[in-house]
Amino acid sequence: MKSYYITTAIDYANGSPHLGHAYEKVITDVIARYHRQLGENVYFLTGLDEHGQKVQQTAEKLNLEPQVLCDQIADEFQNLWKKLSISNDDYLRTTQERHKKVVAEILQNLFEKDEIYLADYKGYYSVRVEQFVQTREMVDGKWPSEYGEVVEVIEKNYFFKLSKYQAWLIDYIKNNDEFIFPKFRQKQVLEFLKEPINDLCISRPKKRLSWGIPLPFDTNYVTYVWFDALINYITGAGYESDNFKDLWPADCHVIGKDILVPPHAVYWPIMLKACDIPLPISLLAHGWWLTSGEKMSKSTGEIVDPIQLIDQYGPDAFRYFVTREMNIGQDSEFSLQLFMSRYNSDLANDLGNLVSRFLNMSKRYCESIVPKAEIEEEPEADIKNLWSKTKSEYCELCDGFQFHQALDRTFTFIREINRYIEIRSPWKLAKSEENTDRKILETTLATIGESLRLSAALLYPIMPNISTQIYQLVGIEKIGLMNEELAWSNCLEGNSVAEKAILFPKK
Ligand code: MSP
Repeated sequence: MKSYYITTAIDYANGSPHLGHAYEKVITDVIARYHRQLGENVYFLTGLDEHGQKVQQTAEKLNLEPQVLCDQIADEFQNLWKKLSISNDDYLRTTQERHKKVVAEILQNLFEKDEIYLADYKGYYSVRVEQFVQTREMVDGKWPSEYGEVVEVIEKNYFFKLSKYQAWLIDYIKNNDEFIFPKFRQKQVLEFLKEPINDLCISRPKKRLSWGIPLPFDTNYVTYVWFDALINYITGAGYESDNFKDLWPADCHVIGKDILVPPHAVYWPIMLKACDIPLPISLLAHGWWLTSGEKMSKSTGEIVDPIQLIDQYGPDAFRYFVTREMNIGQDSEFSLQLFMSRYNSDLANDLGNLVSRFLNMSKRYCESIVPKAEIEEEPEADIKNLWSKTKSEYCELCDGFQFHQALDRTFTFIREINRYIEIRSPWKLAKSEENTDRKILETTLATIGESLRLSAALLYPIMPNISTQIYQLVGIEKIGLMNEELAWSNCLEGNSVAEKAILFPKK
């Protein structure tokens, strides 16, 4: 079976990572880990977008060679991904030889097929978004603020024949419902395609921009950064190697909503079509993290530094918060208050407390050995029923990228385990001399342990470290595949469990 190939956008090498970049890598990692848990072979690619005017300008300002700047930023990003337990299989940097080679091959191929031509270009260019912009986008005679400085440009350039594929693309999108997620974004793309699209200017004269991949057929020019960057997805899949067949087409490109139209939903499918390469199965466009109602970004708003949050609360708390709080296609306002409230109520109170209660009671009443579940009465049957419902809803929701809801269901289950403890009140049962009460006590502990193990299996893609820690605390070495892990099996019976643990210290 073909591997599940998932990618993120590659970040610009012109500044430090912020919450927005980290969110995207976390959510992609959650999907990758979920698919691995299902037993699939997963290949996860992320990387850095190193060419273009923005990077060149930032390097000039800092009085650095662009490559030196990129090396520093690559270290910074990669350290953060390690800190966040991002399980990428590869890290692609667009200045790597393997990538430059593929970009040159694609360009040469398209040039020979007559898909690229030379012409005069007169227009307006936004350095901030690295795109030519149209005067029709002006509002009250002004460029939208997200474009930053817009300059007029007149020069000879190479063009890729985008417009001739417009009708084909519209058809493709209409006939392939799974291509763009969420569904409302598909409408937005089709809306964009109602207006005629221009051919794409894919070159920049070297005298204006030297930091790029030279065009193989005219070295007076370098490649437009988006044309270069999009190709990373096939370079990373080992274009023209045996691996390629196993990985391509990509199953999912995870990107922010700002780079869906036109780069990913228009340029990329047309570039692939023109090269006779199959299209990716789906584009998943997530929303933005906002601060004070604005997109969090280096150039426009206040920045939340993920490193501070991770250092203070741990990587899994960060992963939990961003996955729980964001409905994947929508925007979300970041607030530290909300972060603290999720941390204290969901993680410390509901989950952390459950683990420590279980370990305490096991020590006090059963010498830290998980007993046998011998009886099943209404409270146990209720928990088992809720489990069946939780597990099937969880998988359905994850398959539809609704991770925030999958976590909501998981925590409803966790809260119910806490309620079950109150119903059974092991501290009362322990005082009784009755044999049946002892059996209920043992069953209660076994049921809590089993429920905890099952919850940890659901939490694994989102909180891999905490989940592994819970497994270890209850005497299990390794997490298996989801199908096996999710069956109610009382497999902890006889296990020695740890004496105590504080997973989330109260803040
Ligand atoms: N280099 C391009 C992507 C090329 S992909 C072939 C780029 N880089 S970026 O650094 O500006 O953004 C990288 C990713 O982070 C994008 O998917 C972008 O949408 C995402 N985010 C950047 N700021 C964001 C938020 N405030 N919130 C959520 N994600 C956002 O675009």
